[in-house]
Amino acid sequence: MRAGIVGMGRFLPEKILTNHDLEKMMDTSDEWIRTMTGIEERRIASDDVNTSDMAFAAAQKAIEDAGITPEQIDLILVATVTPDSPFPSVSCRIQERLGATKAAAMDISAACAGFMYGIVTAKQFIESQVYKYVLVVGVEKLSKITDWNDRNTAVLFGDGAGAAIIGPVSEDRGILAFELGADGTGAKHLYQDEFIIMNGREVFKFAVRQMGESCINVLNKAGLSKDDVDFLIPHQANIRIMEASRQRLELPIEKMSKTVDKYGNTSAASIPISIVEEVEKGKIKDDDLIVMVGFGGGLTWGAIAIRWGK
Ligand code: UT7
Repeated sequence: MRAGIVGMGRFLPEKILTNHDLEKMMDTSDEWIRTMTGIEERRIASDDVNTSDMAFAAAQKAIEDAGITPEQIDLILVATVTPDSPFPSVSCRIQERLGATKAAAMDISAACAGFMYGIVTAKQFIESQVYKYVLVVGVEKLSKITDWNDRNTAVLFGDGAGAAIIGPVSEDRGILAFELGADGTGAKHLYQDEFIIMNGREVFKFAVRQMGESCINVLNKAGLSKDDVDFLIPHQANIRIMEASRQRLELPIEKMSKTVDKYGNTSAASIPISIVEEVEKGKIKDDDLIVMVGFGGGLTWGAIAIRWGK
């Protein structure tokens, strides 16, 4: 028996902050941001919308898409580095609002790789037949830890949420292989003090190397090759980093998800938001082989090879 994704949903705040808006706030330019990152605009949650509100909205849609009831959820895992407060967890907050009365709940802190960590954790509980349905949410309100005076970081991030129900799927479908990793020696390159502090160059070098390597590793573990890949969902941090992974897999441009232009880097939310968009556009179909790969502060990374469909 194998675990897979049986339902998904996303939430994005309505307010759009464009590169041109940022030009009025700091010494930057639309041209620099587009060329260096691929970002054109990002969404910013209003003051009265917190992380748990976005997580709740995305989770509701995922539950509906899966065709289950909240009472059927056994565990809620929320990947975030921007919880409403250190405790209670975002997962407990949404457990109450969803009415998922039978679910255990905890948050996962693995930065931009958090959604990968969540899916892999869910898979263990399902395939050991301890639980049947796990709700995994990737959600961030990065705007509340962004230093709007620091042009090195302020132009990169956005707010949003993506959610998935992980459950048993039919034979030959589901999560075929995964890789998770961490390197705490790189903690100094990306962390939160009051705001996000980043050594962009170092994170960039790490990401280009690790994303490509993790993609190849999961394919090897699944006994598959680059030629088997139908679609790549990389963490949407920077188009140049994403392009490096695509080239490593020798995939044509239309086989890689790109939402970074519209939403910027939404950390743990970027991968689930992108999957929902690609499924809606018809780019991901049943039985396609999808590779998802993320990296982030910690440093952390994670990749999954999944055969799409219930
Ligand atoms: O989810 C993980 C989160 N983090 C990441 O994924 C970030 C990974 N890193 C990156 O994406 C890239 O390092 C950046 C896009 C952040 C920066 O690109 P870079 O090629 O590493 O450029 P840099 O930081 O070395 O900066 C080049 C120049 C500098 O000017 P000088 O010193 O050459 O005169 C910066 O001051 O660009 C300047 N600069 C900017 N200029 C206009 C930095 N930020 C901006 C800006 N607008 N927003």
